[in-house]
Amino acid sequence: MCGIVGYIGNRPAHPILISGLKRLEYRGYDSAGIALINGGLHIFKRAGKVSDLEAFIEGEDLTGTIGIGHTRWATHGEPNDTNAHPHLSQSGNITMIHNGIIENYAPLKEGLTQRGYKFTSETDTEVLVNLIDYIQQLDNLDLLEAVRLALNQVVGAYAIVIMDRNDPNQLIAARKGSPLVIGIGKDEFFIASDATPIVEHTKNVVYLNDEEIAVLSRNGELNIKTIQNKEKPYSIQELELQIEMLEKGGYEHFMLKEIYEQPNSVLDSMRGRLNVKQGEVVLGGIKDYFQKLVNADRVIIVACGTSWIAGLVGEYLLEDLARINVEVEYASEFRYRNPIITEKDVVIAISQSGETADTLAALELAKAKGATILGICNVVGSSIPRLTHAGVYTHAGPEIGVASTKAFTAQVTVLSLISLALAHKKGSISETRYRELVQELSLIPEKIAQVLKSDVQIKHIAQTFKDVRNFLYLGRGYNFPVALEGALKLKEISYIHAEGYPAAEMKHGPIALIDEEMPVVVLATNMSAYDKIISNIQEVKARKGRVIAIVTEGDEVIKNIAEFTIEIPATEEALTPLLSSIPLQLLAYHIAVLRGCNIDQPRNLAKSVTVE
Ligand code: AGP
Repeated sequence: MCGIVGYIGNRPAHPILISGLKRLEYRGYDSAGIALINGGLHIFKRAGKVSDLEAFIEGEDLTGTIGIGHTRWATHGEPNDTNAHPHLSQSGNITMIHNGIIENYAPLKEGLTQRGYKFTSETDTEVLVNLIDYIQQLDNLDLLEAVRLALNQVVGAYAIVIMDRNDPNQLIAARKGSPLVIGIGKDEFFIASDATPIVEHTKNVVYLNDEEIAVLSRNGELNIKTIQNKEKPYSIQELELQIEMLEKGGYEHFMLKEIYEQPNSVLDSMRGRLNVKQGEVVLGGIKDYFQKLVNADRVIIVACGTSWIAGLVGEYLLEDLARINVEVEYASEFRYRNPIITEKDVVIAISQSGETADTLAALELAKAKGATILGICNVVGSSIPRLTHAGVYTHAGPEIGVASTKAFTAQVTVLSLISLALAHKKGSISETRYRELVQELSLIPEKIAQVLKSDVQIKHIAQTFKDVRNFLYLGRGYNFPVALEGALKLKEISYIHAEGYPAAEMKHGPIALIDEEMPVVVLATNMSAYDKIISNIQEVKARKGRVIAIVTEGDEVIKNIAEFTIEIPATEEALTPLLSSIPLQLLAYHIAVLRGCNIDQPRNLAKSVTVE
C-alpha cells in the first residue's frame, strides 16, 4: 500500500527521496511527504501526488544527507496534509513513516492520552511514534531499545523507518507483515518498500524479515536484531531488476506498455521451462515438491483480485488436464472461515506483488495446518515466496500499472505449465495430446502479438461505448474467468459498472438489465460450447442488447449476428484465456483513456494491498 523510502550517506538525500517516491507512487498516491535533517529536523508533507509535494517544497532549504519519504494510501484518516507522513512525536525528536495497520492503536492512544500526549492527526502512525517517544523518555533509553520495546506492544502490521533529530547518523527500520528492502551502496544505505527506488543506485540488497529491526549507520555499518533482542546475521542478495524495466519506454501509460509487453512476458514465463523438441515441461522451482502435487488429495488456490481470477483459470486447467480436485478461494474469506485443511492438501498462492496481506495470512494458516504451500509470484524476494515451501516465479518483469495485465497472462502461463507437467506425470492425457498442447503453448507469444494488431479496431469500439454506464461480460468454460477479468479491468480503470457472468447464468438474473443501452461483451471462441454461445448472443439481441463478440479468426457466423466482432487466432481451448483476455485489456484501456481517467493510478486503488 503506502510507499516508504529512506536514505543515509554522503549525497543530498532530497533528490533520492523524491525520485524514489515517484517510483513507489503506484503503491499509494493520496498524499506524500519527506523529512530531512539539516541542522534541525524539517518535515514537508502534502495531500495529493508526489508532484504536488514537489511544487510545495520548491524554494525550501532541502539540504541534508539523511532523510525519509512516504507516499500514502489512507487507512486511518482521510488523505489530507495533517494525516500525511512523516509523523512527528510530541517531543519533536522522532519522526516516522509507516506502512501497515496498528490494530491496537486505540488502547495505545488512550494510554498515551492519559499520560498527556495530544494527537494532531487521525493516524495510527502518530500513536506508534509517540509510544516510542514515551518509552524512550521514561527510562532514558537509546532509540533502538525504545523502538524494540514499543514494537513488542504492537498488534498489527508495520514497515517503519524512524529518524531522530538528535542523531543524523542513523536510520532505524523495522517490519512485520509489510515489506522493507535495504539497498547497500558504497558508504550509503537506501531503504524502501520494494527494490524499485533502489535499483538505480545499487544492486546489492538485504530483505528484512518479520519482527526484525535494522540500524543503518552513516559509518557503513548495518546491524539487524529481532524484536526479541537477538542479533540476526543477514545475507546480501543481488537484484536482477533492470532500470529500463521501470520506465514507460515511449508508451503513454505503464498499462499500455505492459499490455504490449505480453508476447515477451509470456515467453519469459515459459523460458527454460518449456522444451518443445523434447516435449518437456521443467519446473525447477517446485521439483522437490512435485510429487506432493501428484499425490495431493486436492489443490486449494488462494489469491485476491486478478490473481484469484487467474486461479479460476487454473482450476479449469488442473481439473481438465491433470484430473486434480481444485478449490479456488478468496484469500480473505478462506483465512477467517476455519477451513478444513489437511497434510495431503497442496495450497497454491497466486500473487503478482507477493505481498498481499490476505493471501499471506491464508498461506500462514495453511502452513500451520500442515499443508504443503507453494507460490506463483512475480516479485522476486517478496514475502510470499519467502514463506512458501517452493514456488514458480512468473518472470513477467515489474508491473507498475495498478490494473494487472501482463501479470495475469504470466500467472495463467505458469498454471498451464504446472497443469501440463502434472497431466504428463499422472498420465491423465495421452502423450500425443500432451505434445500438441506443449507445441501450442509455445506458439502463444506470437499469437498474442497478432491479437495486439486489433488495437486500432478496439479503440474505435471504445469510442462507441465510452459513455455507457454499465457493461456485461459473458463467457463459458475457460472463458468464464476471462469474462470476470474483463469486467474487473473495465471497472477499476474507467469506473464504469461492469459484471462478468457465466453466459448461461445470464437468464437467471442479469438478463433483466439488458436493453438497447447495454453493451454485452461475449467471449465466443469456445468450440465445445459454440452453439450454446450463439444462443446466448441471440438472447441478448432479442432484448436489443449491443453485442461485442470475441471470436476465433474466420468466424463468419457470429460476424453476421454481433454488432462488433474482434478476432483472435485459433488455439487450444485450454489456452484460450491467454489470447481472449488481451482484447478486453485493450477495450478497458481505451475506454478509460477516452473518459479522461488516470490509467496507471485509478482512484482509491493501490498496486499492492498490504492491509487486510
Ligand atoms: C488487478 O487489476 C488489481 N489491481 C487487483 O485485483 C490485484 O490483482 C489484487 O490486489 C491482488 O494483488 P497481487 O496479485 O499482488 O496479490
